[in-house]
Amino acid sequence: MESSSSISLLLFFMSFCCMGFRAGEAAAKTAAAALYVLGDSLVDVGNNNYLATILKANFLHNGVDFAGGRPTGRFSNGRNAADFFAEGLGLPSPPPFLSINRRPNQTEAFLKGINFASGGAGVLDSTNRNLCLSMNKQIEHLAAINGAIEGEIGAGEALKHLSNSLFVVNIGSNDILGYLMLFNSTPPINQYVDSMVSFLGEQLQRIYSLGARKLLFIGTGPIGCCPFQRNSNGECNITANSLSNSFNKGAVSLLREMKSKLPNFNYSFFNTSLAVSELIQNSANHGFTEVKAACCGLGGNLNANIPCTPVSYCCKDRRRHIFWDFAHPTEATVQFTAKIVADGSAPYVYPINMRQLSTI
Ligand SMILES: *[C@@H]1O[C@H](CO)[C@@H](O)[C@H](O)[C@H]1NC(C)=O
Ligand SMILES: *[C@@H]1O[C@H](CO)[C@@H](O)[C@H](O)[C@H]1NC(C)=O
Ligand SMILES: *[C@@H]1O[C@H](CO)[C@@H](O)[C@H](O)[C@H]1NC(C)=O
Ligand SMILES: *[C@@H]1O[C@H](CO)[C@@H](O)[C@H](O)[C@H]1NC(C)=O
Repeated sequence: MESSSSISLLLFFMSFCCMGFRAGEAAAKTAAAALYVLGDSLVDVGNNNYLATILKANFLHNGVDFAGGRPTGRFSNGRNAADFFAEGLGLPSPPPFLSINRRPNQTEAFLKGINFASGGAGVLDSTNRNLCLSMNKQIEHLAAINGAIEGEIGAGEALKHLSNSLFVVNIGSNDILGYLMLFNSTPPINQYVDSMVSFLGEQLQRIYSLGARKLLFIGTGPIGCCPFQRNSNGECNITANSLSNSFNKGAVSLLREMKSKLPNFNYSFFNTSLAVSELIQNSANHGFTEVKAACCGLGGNLNANIPCTPVSYCCKDRRRHIFWDFAHPTEATVQFTAKIVADGSAPYVYPINMRQLSTI
């Protein structure tokens, strides 16, 4: 699938709908040496600031609730899932890979954890081509830091370090959105999902071969319930939600297969679709009052025709909104889901949760 530029324009910010990690509380003990993050705008902490792309978030109102009230490149009002995952592990939120070439000792930075994620990224190279670091590009960068670490401390120590670290992969929503936008000119849904899953399979294998032994896979969310996917009655798009579920199903079978074949491999899968759908249904119990509309945006019934920009409207009660902009969750939503990722259980997170995975 080739993205036209107008499609890309629509796609960029929308990575997924939702996901998240643990927050707030004092971080429990962790055995993870470091955190490495690959994925899309749900976990991008500023890589796209360094790219010539329209897919950026380094302007207000993004970051309005971040420390200092400043935009950082996160597609959020505050911290995103990568930050909460790190906090849950008692680790610093890893810096963007593209910021590291400014540091004197790169290897030292590489050993502390790196975030490769890039807004707009997909499993498929064609998703938002040339506008972000695709999953394959992110893995190339992972291979480069792996080489640098080996060069500095030797292959044996490097493998020990990486196998004790936690790898988070959060990808797929942009490919799904890309498919939905080309609805009439693309292959049948099953064929498209199969090709996504087959690319993902190669990518996860490659990540394993580069030293990852603890993999946290964040499934795609209820994409059809994002503000811009809802219809004029405010109802979720069931086609988008079912695509998301099919992709997640494929991802889980890949992970199971990897576990049965690859020595010392362990994983956690988080069913974002389930956790967020339930949050939407039981929103009042968790302090949310607005489950459909974007907090920041402009236009339409749901404030979702235009992304969050300095001229967009920005709501005051951000902790009460599930969605920050037309496609991304608020910090409050991510904080809620992150807690489940860290300490929850099946059917939300399985076969083990993030904390169990990190302490194996
Ligand atoms: C860079 O950092 C690594 C890891 O801390 C260390 O082993 C190495 O000696 C450092 N290299 C330089 C040139 O300071
Ligand atoms: C869902 O989204 C697709 C793609 O935008 C659209 O073709 C379809 O009509 C929408 N509604 C339903 C119910 O699938
Ligand atoms: C982690 O993986 C190893 C190797 O497959 C397995 O023996 C072990 O039981 C796994 N640990 C957990 C907690 O699943
Ligand atoms: C995730 O939860 C949904 C319910 O929202 C369920 O239909 C789906 O099978 C689950 N997917 C996986 C991979 O566990």
